[in-house]
Amino acid sequence: MTIVNRSAAVVLEKVRKQYGVVMAVEEVSVTIEAGTLVTLLGPSGCGKTTTLRMVAGLEMPTAGRILIGDKDVTLLPPNERDVSMVFQSYALFPHMTVLENVSYGLADASLSKARKLEKAREGLRLVGLDGYDERLPSELSGGQQQRVACARALVLEPQVLLFDEPLSNLDAKLRRRMREEIRELQQKLELTSIYVTHDQEEALAVSDKIVVMNQGRIAQEGTPADLYERPADSFVADFIGAANLIPCEILRREDALAIVRFGDTELRVRAPRISGSAGYLVVRSAAVALADAGAARGLTATVRKATYLGGHWEYTLDTPFGSLFLAQPVGRRFEQGATVALQLDPQHLSVVART
Ligand SMILES: Nc1ncnc2c1ncn2[C@@H]1O[C@H](COP(=O)(O)OP(=O)(O)O)[C@@H](O)[C@H]1O
Ligand SMILES: [Mg+2]
Repeated sequence: MTIVNRSAAVVLEKVRKQYGVVMAVEEVSVTIEAGTLVTLLGPSGCGKTTTLRMVAGLEMPTAGRILIGDKDVTLLPPNERDVSMVFQSYALFPHMTVLENVSYGLADASLSKARKLEKAREGLRLVGLDGYDERLPSELSGGQQQRVACARALVLEPQVLLFDEPLSNLDAKLRRRMREEIRELQQKLELTSIYVTHDQEEALAVSDKIVVMNQGRIAQEGTPADLYERPADSFVADFIGAANLIPCEILRREDALAIVRFGDTELRVRAPRISGSAGYLVVRSAAVALADAGAARGLTATVRKATYLGGHWEYTLDTPFGSLFLAQPVGRRFEQGATVALQLDPQHLSVVART
């Protein structure tokens, strides 16, 4: 193989970026282990792109330090860092062929022209585009253009690969396929990657670790399962997996569990990091089974809306503690207006603080 893996760890230490009075990134400290993919996930405007651009050297931090493979790069210009970035817009040159686009960035004077073309072909082969050398970008689909952009970043043999919402110009089906391709390539080549997205499903699908950002700060970092099953606060619970949040009273703690009450119901649920007595019960579809009213146990609710989506039903339910939005298997059908019993599985419930 002609393309060499030079992946290195990246460390951000209390990184901040201020534009005048705008605090784009307030304080971000995170470690991206060599060979792993870490996603920055959060709503528009939370500081993801700014953080990525500081790693690339396209923005200078107002405070804090950035290390790539133990080297302090905080104040180095982009061309003195070994990073390459894949943009949402692909940024391909329209008048150059695919092969020229990929070899263009290989500015290293010590490489012969033939060597550069060899590397570019290797890059195209890695992204599944051999045979496309002579095409123009306009002769490629959106997904193929995105792969060219990936190949162009790969041939630079960066220590770190950066992705800023790389799939947002693609349709839903292609997005799913491309995210799998990117993840496969990243794992196969063990590339250190920082991946920015606002799409929680995409983040869950591609990441070793997810850093959830909210207003320039880290709300929580962890594996996809950590964030989904043990959200640190209501922001994370709502952002990842769109949970229903039911206000509850936290009666007492038992190790990593808490006994909570809402209405007349008491439950023992996961509560990894809370104090105080006001909480939200985090209720996702997997935690609820619907049954006919009058079933032995359970709370009752009324079906306000039922939507058939082929693979599952979506229900909006009116309950004594507010409305719930749930996906349920297609096997059973509950009509609009029906009274149903809600059975909660404490195994799949958690609680976060209500502040
Ligand atoms: N060059 C800039 N000048 C002033 N404000 C900026 C600049 N770039 C970004 N911001 C602001 O910083 C915040 C974070 O932006 P950004 O990092 O682009 O968010 P994200 O990528 O998460 O959507 C936003 O409020 C944005 O308006
Ligand atoms: Mg952005």
